[in-house]
Amino acid sequence: MEKKSTYEQLRPLLRPATVAVIGASRSPEKIGYQVLKNLLDGGYPPDKVFPINPKATQILGLKCYPSVKDVPVPVDLAVIVVPARIVPIVLKDCAKKKVKAVAIISAGFKEVGNVEAELELVKIARSAGMRLLGPNIVGVCDTVEGVNASFCQGLPLKGEIAFITQSGALAIGLVGWTVLKKIGLSDLVSIGNKADVNEIDLMEFFAEDPYTKVITIYLEGTDDGRRFLEVAKKVTKCKPVIVLKAGKTERTVAAIKSHTGSLAGSDIAYDAAFKQSGVLRASNFIELFNWAVALAKAPLPRGENVIIITNGGGAGVMATDAASEYGLKLMDIPRDLAEKLRKFMPPFGSTLNPVDLTGMATREWYEGALRVALEDHRVDAVVVLYCHTAITSPLDIADGLITAYKATGARKPVVAAFIGGIECEKAYQKLTKAGIPAYASPEEAVSALGAIYQYARYLRKPKRTYPTIKVDRERVAKLIYGALKEGRRALSPAEAAEVALAYGIPVPEKPLAKSEEEAVVISNRLGYPVVLEVESPQIIHKTEVGGIKLNIKDAEGVRKAYREILESVRKLAPEATIKGVIVRKMIPQGKEVIVGMHRDPVFGPVIMFGAGGILVELMKDVSFRIAPVSMEDAEEMMKETKVYALLKGFRGESESDIESVKEVILRVSKLALDFPEISDIDVNPLFTYEKGKGCIAVDVKIMMQR
Ligand code: ACO
Repeated sequence: MEKKSTYEQLRPLLRPATVAVIGASRSPEKIGYQVLKNLLDGGYPPDKVFPINPKATQILGLKCYPSVKDVPVPVDLAVIVVPARIVPIVLKDCAKKKVKAVAIISAGFKEVGNVEAELELVKIARSAGMRLLGPNIVGVCDTVEGVNASFCQGLPLKGEIAFITQSGALAIGLVGWTVLKKIGLSDLVSIGNKADVNEIDLMEFFAEDPYTKVITIYLEGTDDGRRFLEVAKKVTKCKPVIVLKAGKTERTVAAIKSHTGSLAGSDIAYDAAFKQSGVLRASNFIELFNWAVALAKAPLPRGENVIIITNGGGAGVMATDAASEYGLKLMDIPRDLAEKLRKFMPPFGSTLNPVDLTGMATREWYEGALRVALEDHRVDAVVVLYCHTAITSPLDIADGLITAYKATGARKPVVAAFIGGIECEKAYQKLTKAGIPAYASPEEAVSALGAIYQYARYLRKPKRTYPTIKVDRERVAKLIYGALKEGRRALSPAEAAEVALAYGIPVPEKPLAKSEEEAVVISNRLGYPVVLEVESPQIIHKTEVGGIKLNIKDAEGVRKAYREILESVRKLAPEATIKGVIVRKMIPQGKEVIVGMHRDPVFGPVIMFGAGGILVELMKDVSFRIAPVSMEDAEEMMKETKVYALLKGFRGESESDIESVKEVILRVSKLALDFPEISDIDVNPLFTYEKGKGCIAVDVKIMMQR
């Protein structure tokens, strides 16, 4: 039999035709009573609701059944509200009844360490082909069919935003808040412990759901980062996904040995994953819903030119500041457009951007100015700001704006901020309903337009390409498994250099000298000046133990450096086994960058690029992506850093070989994907030379997982 799509599997959960409440209580103060009451109050047909309670015959006027098995019709959704110990028993009844989906409100499972009991629930559900939401949830609210299968305070308003939440308390709180703010939802789904159905499945469902335009998620963490990334990439192609990710604290830096590791904390992996999959990341729930409303209501812009129209200088300045923060491009208003705008302002108004209609602005001026702006093919989006003056009515101004918006075909995004009291609130709610997302402050309006732009730009991005990379995998396998066999968690510098070479990452020749004399012979062959560095599997940071000597100019210097290195290392790292001393030619100084990898437990290899050298952690001029990194990702991550400007040729310097660095990023990404045993890679510094002259990895560190 063909496997049902996630959408089909979850339909009985989110758009049920019949609902049983197992644990429907006779006592109004109990959750089981409230769930039943909510279902009826929400307008769900009573003949489709079936209370289950062996001790009762009737609750809230409905006939009660002792077991779900006794319900005379098929059951789509069973909401379970009995104590944890009874849940498996009633779940088995659901399985026998062939219930299609269950939502388990009951707490007392994994969240209190009761892992086995939770796994048992999943086992029962899976063996019967039931999808299971929860346990430990508030329930589900579906405004499409009017199903309030939850113990929230009523149903949210009807709307086009799906809200998935890992926090039940937030679900409860936000029902009231969204009603207050007149924000409509298609669904509100509490996912609790996510024993079976999780945010990824729900993203898949809502992507196909015709009633949902925007998907919002409150997330504390995902269990399957790779699938999250894959599904999010597909979903964002058709609908915006906005995530509020909580829990930003980084894992203990002390436990992480590489530079990349100390910078690529788990939250950074989330950030990179969101960026790569087009998921917008909001920083609080107000922003989450402000953005969701904007994306649900407004069309996407076709270009980057934004105009601000205001009746107050201050509001305009605030919006201008916010525009730079949220990456909006305020256009220079062309003279012919400025002349047209002049008709809607007094002589002391301004046609610079922000366009200031002044405190004298009337409804006609607002309407006229917006119309002229939207009719101009060079304008792509408009921010309208209004401060409530004594000579105007906010609702009147709103009507003027709506008229202009509709008359010009409602094809370009317009956002508004109405600053004032209750009348302004009524006006901006009217505007939002009419397709002009409106807010209480300039910053909120600009941030909402910023979100629209973020999404539009993501959709416009070129297709990702992953070039085939030739490597010598076997050579690397030998080195890694060899080291692991010896119980080592890091490759020696010479081994790491060999790995790099096998993966096409340019490294200098690094022969090993086992005696003073041998070091001299090698130095004479390579040519002076040379560098000497200790080779020991236990020593990762050589400078700290005096294990490295630079710029040695002759044979005598080599002998002296050799002796000094050995002496210092024996003193400062007495436990280290010294295999010898590496001799390498002093490499000409290049621009220092770093390419690295840290394996995140949730998302896998996180690739880093940034300003390199010994100050990496201090500078924190870095950017991240999850492997596999595409050509375009590599380019974008480089452009996100300040060091990129340096590579492009800062203050008349010539451009560096950016292409060769891009290639190193792709090769490190491949190495990390090919060898899950590797936990961290640092290629630092990677000296980058003039365009056409390549780059060279001065030092490569490779560490393995425990
Ligand atoms: N089948 C059907 N009903 C049964 C069965 C059965 N086999 N056995 C007992 N019942 C009935 C009970 O008789 C009772 O009905 P009654 O009041 O008419 O007698 C009803 O089911 C409920 O059972 P109780 O034992 O009274 O349980 P109670 O209502 O006290 O608690 C609950 C059940 C709500 C599931 C509780 O165990 C629980 O888990 N509470 C926490 C819920 C929660 O917080 N979820 C997470 C939300 S997220 C957040 O953070 C806000």
